[in-house]
Amino acid sequence: MVNQPHGGRLISRELTGPNRARAIRHAEALPSLTVSSWVISDLELIGTGGFSPLTGFMGQADYENVVRNTRLADGTIWSIPITLPAAEEQTKNFNIDEEIALKGEDGVIYGTITVEEKYAYDKAKEVVNIYGTTDGAHPGVKKVYAKGDVYLGGPITLFNRPDHSEFASYYMDPVETRKMFEDLGWKTIVGFQTRNPVHRAHEHIQKTALESVDGLLLNPLVGETKSDDIPADVRMESYETILRNYYVKDRVLLVIYPAAMRYAGPKEAILHAIVRKNYGCTHFIVGRDHAGVGDYYGTYEAQQMIAQYEEELGIQIFKFEHAFYCTVCENMASSKTCPHDRGNHVHLSGTKVRELLRNGKRPPKEFSRPEVADVLIKGMQKNEA
Ligand code: ADX
Repeated sequence: MVNQPHGGRLISRELTGPNRARAIRHAEALPSLTVSSWVISDLELIGTGGFSPLTGFMGQADYENVVRNTRLADGTIWSIPITLPAAEEQTKNFNIDEEIALKGEDGVIYGTITVEEKYAYDKAKEVVNIYGTTDGAHPGVKKVYAKGDVYLGGPITLFNRPDHSEFASYYMDPVETRKMFEDLGWKTIVGFQTRNPVHRAHEHIQKTALESVDGLLLNPLVGETKSDDIPADVRMESYETILRNYYVKDRVLLVIYPAAMRYAGPKEAILHAIVRKNYGCTHFIVGRDHAGVGDYYGTYEAQQMIAQYEEELGIQIFKFEHAFYCTVCENMASSKTCPHDRGNHVHLSGTKVRELLRNGKRPPKEFSRPEVADVLIKGMQKNEA
């Protein structure tokens, strides 16, 4: 059996068919708020159940509890605020219990919120508790500082999903992944979050996990990422390439995760696990510095934090040590399995890898599959042209 949704019930806040058509017409006459693509991606994930048990953008009680206790007001574990920010000026005209249309920067109305609450919040407290730092150079913290000063809380409806046509064949919502797992006969499924191409270390931990379960959900995040991360279109091509060449076809499902990246390390690892539980996964991988950036988090901090909540979370966490290729062992290994000096290990920094690719050079095959390297080189040249 695929896993239970978080909170016990898969949420759907989406309208379809005639109800949808009616809601769209109705929304055109409502006051509207133009929101970022980040907010639209959150709206989609609430609407389709990826963020179950959330039914809307968080009100103050849920928000404060998440920031302070890593729980919703009813005690359910939740680690990252899912909020609708607006400038105070903008919110003045919105009344409590009024329905507001949520418009993307492209002018499309994606859904509505019934504004049950408007509340001010403490940015410094939010960033310290969620990101572990107040440093404005942290990409997640920077986003919080740039947001409006008021949060609007209340239930949402979704009637237009963002356009995923670029990756249409890899788009599935939680209802669809759950059905797909059932159809494939997978009872145990490991979810893998990534914002990078699949290098040898990723491949190693995925396949090691796969030895213990029926299937792998390769679930790359394709929402907003920071500018020096590899763009989603290039990564998607690299995933297709590695799956074609190195994976067993009916043991892996490639599905996009249409969320924005927070870079919140340990707290984001918990959110990532919750969403994959909602997709139906029974297991989730947390390796080294999961969802980390720079030196803000310890290598195993995400593992340590999620371990405290693991039983209650209801998804089993596969924790992996830092993996590398050892030239003496002649295989992928970690400090748990390889006794040789660090000098024998193939380590490359992200900066070094980017430099090689930019110069049209493949990183060593012990670091990255040559077929993947070629896709990345091509992508790098295209993006810098
Ligand atoms: S993340 O921000 O999405 O977590 P990334 O795509 O690099 O970044 O990582 C995906 C997953 O693989 C995370 O669980 C991460 O901890 C793990 N991981 C990445 N590199 C290694 C490695 N060398 N050894 C072990 N785990 C790793």
